[in-house]
Amino acid sequence: MANQTNPVKKVPIHLQSSQNRILIKNGKIINADKMFDSDVYIEDGIIRMIGCNLIIPGGTRIIDATSMLVMPGGIDPHTHLELEFMGAVSVDDFYQGTKAAIAGGTTMIIDFVLPSKGESLLDAYHKWRTRATNKVCCDYGLHVGIPSWSDEVRREMEDLCKSHGINSFKMFMAYKGVFMLNDSDLYNTFEACKELGAIPMVHAENGDIIFENTKRLLKSGINGPDGHGLSRPEEVEAEAVNRACTLSNQVGSPLYIVHIMSKQAAEVLAKYRTKQIKQNGSAKIFGETLAASVGTHWDDKKLTSWTDAAAHVLSPPLRSDPNTPSFLLNMLASDNLQTTGSDNATFNSNQKCMGKDDFSKIPNGVNGIEDRMSVIWEKGVEAGIIDPCRFVAITSTNAAKIFNIYPKKGCIDVGSDADIVIWNPKGKHTISAKTHHQAVDYNIFEGMECHGVPEYVLVGGRVCLDEGNLKVVQGYGKFIPMPTHSEFVYNNEKVSEVQEEYENNDHDNEIDIKTSKLQIS
Ligand code: URP
Ligand code: ZN
Ligand code: ZN
Ligand code: ZN
Repeated sequence: MANQTNPVKKVPIHLQSSQNRILIKNGKIINADKMFDSDVYIEDGIIRMIGCNLIIPGGTRIIDATSMLVMPGGIDPHTHLELEFMGAVSVDDFYQGTKAAIAGGTTMIIDFVLPSKGESLLDAYHKWRTRATNKVCCDYGLHVGIPSWSDEVRREMEDLCKSHGINSFKMFMAYKGVFMLNDSDLYNTFEACKELGAIPMVHAENGDIIFENTKRLLKSGINGPDGHGLSRPEEVEAEAVNRACTLSNQVGSPLYIVHIMSKQAAEVLAKYRTKQIKQNGSAKIFGETLAASVGTHWDDKKLTSWTDAAAHVLSPPLRSDPNTPSFLLNMLASDNLQTTGSDNATFNSNQKCMGKDDFSKIPNGVNGIEDRMSVIWEKGVEAGIIDPCRFVAITSTNAAKIFNIYPKKGCIDVGSDADIVIWNPKGKHTISAKTHHQAVDYNIFEGMECHGVPEYVLVGGRVCLDEGNLKVVQGYGKFIPMPTHSEFVYNNEKVSEVQEEYENNDHDNEIDIKTSKLQIS
């Protein structure tokens, strides 16, 4: 694959591409709410016209999208690029990570600023902006982690919302002694988010139980990577999801639960969402799952070597129940879950070795930033569980709505940013660490054959993947401020009608979705 990178420099969009006018012809546009045949005309990074027989200026580049799907570029709401974590720094930095994202069809990522305990949130935020700005190949936004609670933290949260483009904060119920907050702190942070019109996000696992289980397991001689999953079984995740939902209900705040990894946890979340929909007509608790959890599971028979097993260690862990991926996909299909992230936090095999004698020291995290779209297409659309519109909803639109950047991002519409993936549903690609664009030396989806590949990816109207050839520009991506008071979170605007239909249908649409087939004219 040709692979062109330019030096770090911020140049106006129109100078970054010889082609600032593009017509995408003969494709099928897929938005979250409908699909239709139409052409798309782009000028200076913005979608200017949608229709057939468009009158366009001479010299416009024409991309023929016959038999292809023209979809909003993916938005990955959960990445950790060059994150310092558990004594290591994740190897995919903002350049390599966003380059790989584009190769897979993602045009925007939302990374996490994770300040250490006692560090100023604003200092950490500026550190992240500095790290990202000259490296990002695609657009990016930021969430901010809250490692402790105080009046000063509350003041900084306000500053971040009012003048730094932040509308979401992540709180940890795990990682005891590092990031973990107690229930009072969670209550206070949820309340602060509600006052600011921001979105509280939680990593839901019971950190106290994990801490005690880890001590017990290590003492009994279980120190290999399988100890990781044994220390944090499904109910440890489900309990925390239940507690987080209870806290947000008590406070009256919204809630976004990141990386739901188990059937039990998803069921608890679904119960709360159903209750809220019955009471208020819409839910304000949202759930994200990962490419990792729908693409693979913890298979003892396959993960026999220490290296393979350690490479699959993340938190919450991959579950050994082989039905977990299809269960979570059905939860995505029925709007019991809304988004899919990668949680890309990549550590090389030698970094994972830090936990050679103690599983609790294996740096937690896996890949997914590049393969998220293909894995979800393969396991969701190709498998007949979700249709292409729902694919767009869970890979792009819902994240844009929840984090309040819709319709600038997350849809193909006049006035929207020209962040577009032209998807070839008949294309095939086998995932491998040998050919991926990420810095990490391992791929948890190794050998997976995916039907459905990006042929072209446009970021702000610039063709960054061109007939499968990657042509990224380091530093081209922009910081996208995410305003507070998202309508879809705060004003009872529904993120989608899917769950309502699901409730009314007596779960019939699981069958409808499975039998619906993609029609390409
Ligand atoms: O194992 C994981 N998920 N690593 C990244 C940090 C986090 O908890 O999201
Ligand atoms: Zn500042
Ligand atoms: Zn987490
Ligand atoms: Zn994460």
